[in-house]
Amino acid sequence: MPDKVLGIFGHPVAHSLSPLMHNFASKKLGLPYTYVAFDVEPAMLKKAVDGIRALGIAGVNVTVPHKEAVVRHLDAVDAEARAIGAVNTIINNGGKLTGTNTDGIGFLRALKTRRFNPRGKRVIIVGAGGSSRAIGVTLWRAGVKEIAVINRTPAAGKKLVEALSQFGAATFVPAASADAGALLAKADLVVQCTSLGMKKDDPLPLRDPAFRKGQLVYDIIYSPVETRFLAAARRAGADTMNGLAMLVYQGSESFRLWTGKKFPEEAALKLLKRHLGRK
Ligand code: ATR
Repeated sequence: MPDKVLGIFGHPVAHSLSPLMHNFASKKLGLPYTYVAFDVEPAMLKKAVDGIRALGIAGVNVTVPHKEAVVRHLDAVDAEARAIGAVNTIINNGGKLTGTNTDGIGFLRALKTRRFNPRGKRVIIVGAGGSSRAIGVTLWRAGVKEIAVINRTPAAGKKLVEALSQFGAATFVPAASADAGALLAKADLVVQCTSLGMKKDDPLPLRDPAFRKGQLVYDIIYSPVETRFLAAARRAGADTMNGLAMLVYQGSESFRLWTGKKFPEEAALKLLKRHLGRK
């Protein structure tokens, strides 16, 4: 069978772990796929998408900063991607490109490994970018009771709350406000969606976070394995989780859509943990 190409469009994209896990899966299952990281400048996005058709690339993941911009270049976008407002997976069906989004499913499956059922729960989302929106929409669809968004920039936070308000009760709290930290204690689930944990000095996104026992604190960052935010939550007795399982589960869903085969999730998780441990 001739080789088939899968890939990821991002900018930057060199740090992505997706090539490692998808090439591992393809090899393990004896499939003819090679997964390539393509660094696509924003101005070249349309040409890159046309390249999927021209080169017969079987499927593509889309990451920062293209997840929203890519929508207008596709032939179809499914209901999941439309609800989330972003595409992370493109499927090439004989030249017809369909966009979907597996981030939400990946996130819910990650929560499930901790036996956390979002139904009826109070949630705080820290951050107001694309990841916050995807996770907020997903949590509404999974039946949460209320969502509060805490963010540094009020304009971005309010915009996200406005988008989330079509689903249910959402409120905005500025990260700099005196009671932002204390508010965390009220949540059953806290999701940290900013990129701060990846910075060298790993600053907290808000002051004096009041974590507590009995809540789940989730950080979408997986490198470092434990951000300062997660470490503080763990010390306060909260259950904690980093973004690695979500990465593997969203990849697993994309892989299944492209190849029709079941992704070796446990083995991939082990591989990535070993890889991150070495860094
Ligand atoms: P993504 O689409 O991956 O979620 P993004 O759109 O860049 O990424 O969103 C990044 C989030 O991290 C935003 O909520 C951003 O806050 P602002 O709206 O105030 O910009 C937050 N963030 C990034 N750097 C930050 C910093 N130094 N301090 C506080 N928040 C920060």
